[in-house]
Amino acid sequence: MEQKFIPKSLVASQESGKVTWQSPSNIALVKYWGKKNPQLPENTSISFTLSNCHTTTTLTYRKRKEIGPTFDFEVFLEGKVQEDFKPKIQTFFERVERYLPFIRDYSFMIETENSFPHSSGIASSASGMSAIALCLMSIEKEMNNDLSEEYFYQKASFLSRLGSGSACRSVKGNLVVWGAHQNIENSSDFYGVPYLGKVAPFFENYQDTILLIDKGEKQVSSTVGHNLMHGHPFAAQRFEQAQENIDRIKGIFERSDIDQFIALVESEALTLHAMMMTSQPYFILMKSNTLEVINRVWEYRRSTGSKLCFTLDAGANVHLLYPEHEKETVRTFISSKLASYCKDKSFIHDCVGPGAKQL
Ligand code: PMV
Repeated sequence: MEQKFIPKSLVASQESGKVTWQSPSNIALVKYWGKKNPQLPENTSISFTLSNCHTTTTLTYRKRKEIGPTFDFEVFLEGKVQEDFKPKIQTFFERVERYLPFIRDYSFMIETENSFPHSSGIASSASGMSAIALCLMSIEKEMNNDLSEEYFYQKASFLSRLGSGSACRSVKGNLVVWGAHQNIENSSDFYGVPYLGKVAPFFENYQDTILLIDKGEKQVSSTVGHNLMHGHPFAAQRFEQAQENIDRIKGIFERSDIDQFIALVESEALTLHAMMMTSQPYFILMKSNTLEVINRVWEYRRSTGSKLCFTLDAGANVHLLYPEHEKETVRTFISSKLASYCKDKSFIHDCVGPGAKQL
């Protein structure tokens, strides 16, 4: 499978150049937790691509006079040299070199900025890794103009995955599936594909407000968390459940069954955290305010009949999902009743979006 992403002949013809991509974050509805080498998921996942939370990356490249044994790159975040990003990008370059043989021929300057505060606890790996993968694809395209659009995006997603698994779902919108599933045509473990099943219009402009509960560094990284699924006592059942949940969510999208949507999405979030709490060693990424918010959301739903629900990433922050027609009432509820559970009362309004774009 990977063979199709190894260019047959590619001449590093460009002397120098500059490309910029803006790529969004995404939020999984059916979660990916557990992987095999190299960055292949143990189960299928599906996510909403977001809009407002994004990374913009400019890649400036210049032919090297002499090709050395190492990659040549510098990384800047918001204009400042970012030495601590280098190891992750070094690993990424090592993983993608087979597919982008020209990267050793160039010196790169990687300038990146996020639309959300760096210390917000929002994972920037999905938006960041997909933005850089797209920039590299644009360089490949300059050397080979025959690349089809489909190949371009598929390979961009494939490369993003090698940077950070969930990043492969950020290239396209609005709903993206990653991981082979027997009932999803063209789905693959190697890259994300846009979900082409029937989706009630209701879900196309879904809202996501991210409550920033804790802005600190996570005590346990996703990499460590994924690895703890090896030998996890509930792993096999979990992976099977996720495959079944993909079938269920397909039906939910078709029928516009919002109550079942809420039940599935909240259960997926709590299951993800249950896997963490039952790993060896066990860990908890939720904070007490995460639980406070969840209880307030349930109370609000009970007392108003609202369709507001929550989901969680691998962290303490809460993503609040709701239909567009509830925007005003839900946002009033958030600022009046939930903001006090957030660090510095901060939250970010976002919504479902179409995916990355070249600037
Ligand atoms: O892409 P990673 O390795 O950071 O893993 C992210 C996993 C979750 O965000 C918890 C779930 C998901 O499917 O995005």
